[in-house]
Amino acid sequence: MIRNRVALQQKLHFMKMNLANLIGMREGMQVLDVGCGEGTFTTCVAKLVGETGKVVAIDITEEYLKEMNGNLERYNVKHLVKFAKADAAELSAILIPQSFDAAVSYRLVEELTQPEKLSKIIAEMAKSLRKNGKAALIELSTKTRNVAEENLIRLHRDIGGDYFPAPEEILMYMKDAGLTKVHVKTVETEIWYSSTVFLKGAGGQDEIWTEFKEKIIEDLWPSVKQYGMKYPSINIFLGQKPQIEVDTSAKNMGNLNQYLNLSKPGIFLQFSKVTGFREFLPGRGPSAHVLEELERCV
Ligand SMILES: C[S@@+](CC[C@H](N)C(=O)[O-])C[C@H]1O[C@@H](n2cnc3c(N)ncnc32)[C@H](O)[C@@H]1O
Repeated sequence: MIRNRVALQQKLHFMKMNLANLIGMREGMQVLDVGCGEGTFTTCVAKLVGETGKVVAIDITEEYLKEMNGNLERYNVKHLVKFAKADAAELSAILIPQSFDAAVSYRLVEELTQPEKLSKIIAEMAKSLRKNGKAALIELSTKTRNVAEENLIRLHRDIGGDYFPAPEEILMYMKDAGLTKVHVKTVETEIWYSSTVFLKGAGGQDEIWTEFKEKIIEDLWPSVKQYGMKYPSINIFLGQKPQIEVDTSAKNMGNLNQYLNLSKPGIFLQFSKVTGFREFLPGRGPSAHVLEELERCV
């Protein structure tokens, strides 16, 4: 059980280092971190990509830039990170497509200023990736095991106005964005903290936590006393940019046929292990599964 805030912050830093390692951040990679906020995750990514790598960190606001710079300096990685103020739904306006080895985010979705932009944001993250580049969105899981955890998620929603879409929705947008190998991995944090540390906030939340302290005490205290409080488990949404870049918009439906040296532009051919190639209706792109099969056969 963690009883002081510094210890909690250290534990959370190790957790984020582990997560960054788990999603495949490696030396020399060029990584886009979307919704970098205070840069607690950016720092971990920068640490792992090291001197030969680079991180572009974007956020819709500069509100947390000072804290981010502080975090980057603390871990001696400031020179590896470039910050840009931008809306994640409009990344194409500032970034060259296909220029990153990975596009990642840490708890971006829960704090989206306009949740209806989520599918566009995921599409933009996918667009920024090189072939075989990795996409990873890390979010709190809303699966709860007791009243204390239920209350915590409810307070995130009610007080923080947080947005927790169903995991299936995020996975669907990732597939729609043309990513392959899309799946979600859930990891337990096993970080238990005392009610006092919880009330002080895990970092950066003090104002909200102070403002709503009474409500939090009233809502959470009895259950935290009974069950303790654990940092929620984490959902990691993973996907990969396919080897073949296919624009699935109707006007470009001929591209893949051209690539495959086939004669009928405008009509996609779908590959099936059982039936071989067959015609695919224009206007509907191939599924991620079909793309994977196509990659294997060309
Ligand atoms: C919980 S914070 C992220 C924490 C951060 N990743 C870290 O590791 O410390 C969520 C961030 O997403 C940003 N955000 C929300 N909507 C956005 C958008 N449309 N484009 C870019 N950033 C956005 C917010 O400004 C906020 O800084």
